[in-house]
Amino acid sequence: MNAESLLTHVGIIMDGNGRWARSHSLKRIEGHKAAEKSIHEAVEFCGEMGVKYLTLYAFSTENWKRPRAEVSFIMTLLKSFIKRNIESLDGNSVRIRATGRLDDLPSGPLNALRNAMERTRNNDGLNLILALSYGGRAEITDAMRQIAHDIETGLVKASAITEETIAAHLYLPDVPDPDIVIRTSGEQRLSNFLLWESAYSELYFTDVLWPDFRKRHLEEAFEAYRTRRRRFGDIDSD
Ligand code: IPE
Ligand code: IPE
Ligand code: MG
Repeated sequence: MNAESLLTHVGIIMDGNGRWARSHSLKRIEGHKAAEKSIHEAVEFCGEMGVKYLTLYAFSTENWKRPRAEVSFIMTLLKSFIKRNIESLDGNSVRIRATGRLDDLPSGPLNALRNAMERTRNNDGLNLILALSYGGRAEITDAMRQIAHDIETGLVKASAITEETIAAHLYLPDVPDPDIVIRTSGEQRLSNFLLWESAYSELYFTDVLWPDFRKRHLEEAFEAYRTRRRRFGDIDSD
């Protein structure tokens, strides 16, 4: 299989808000605010390109370590982002979903998120997946706990556990693995994003800071993807 085929799932590690703010002599929170425009562009462009799933890494399990004021600002922003955008997202048939340890979120943003997911659950356009209090290791750990429980209660045998069993116990088992994982801001690491799911994803790094990220940058990433040869361990057929 080559990379010509349409991108089905795009993952984005939206990084660089703090550095963007600093470069404009602003407080870090201004960088998080400025991120909204970039999210709009990514959602719109993915919709136009027929992408089916867009996962945005918005808050990691490790981000709870940040100063309390920043964390609470991000949580408030999450709630207001949903309130501001639910109408137009729903109108554009976007289905809002989430992945992560959602129970860790404060009740305000969590309720807004749950309502948005419920309201858009039958939409057949882009699946916009917000990764919130998400960690790849946490996700795999949570899957392991459930599987261990099923073994303990005699539901399955340890010898019957396959890769498919593990994949089926991840947070969103129906979502295919990401074709591409994009990270902005020049950092070249996954920072605990979709560890299991990105085993064969194409990785794309750009120096552009997330608040500066526009449709043309996403287009460049998609262009780069088209030149990749995805072999999945096999050999090229031609
Ligand atoms: C990404 O931007 C947003 C979150 C992780 C919540 P950062 O806040 O990490 O920005 P930098 O990396 O400090 O520039
Ligand atoms: C990764 O960015 C998490 C999100 C974009 C939500 P970080 O800024 O938290 O990652 P590190 O600390 O630079 O690895
Ligand atoms: Mg960062």
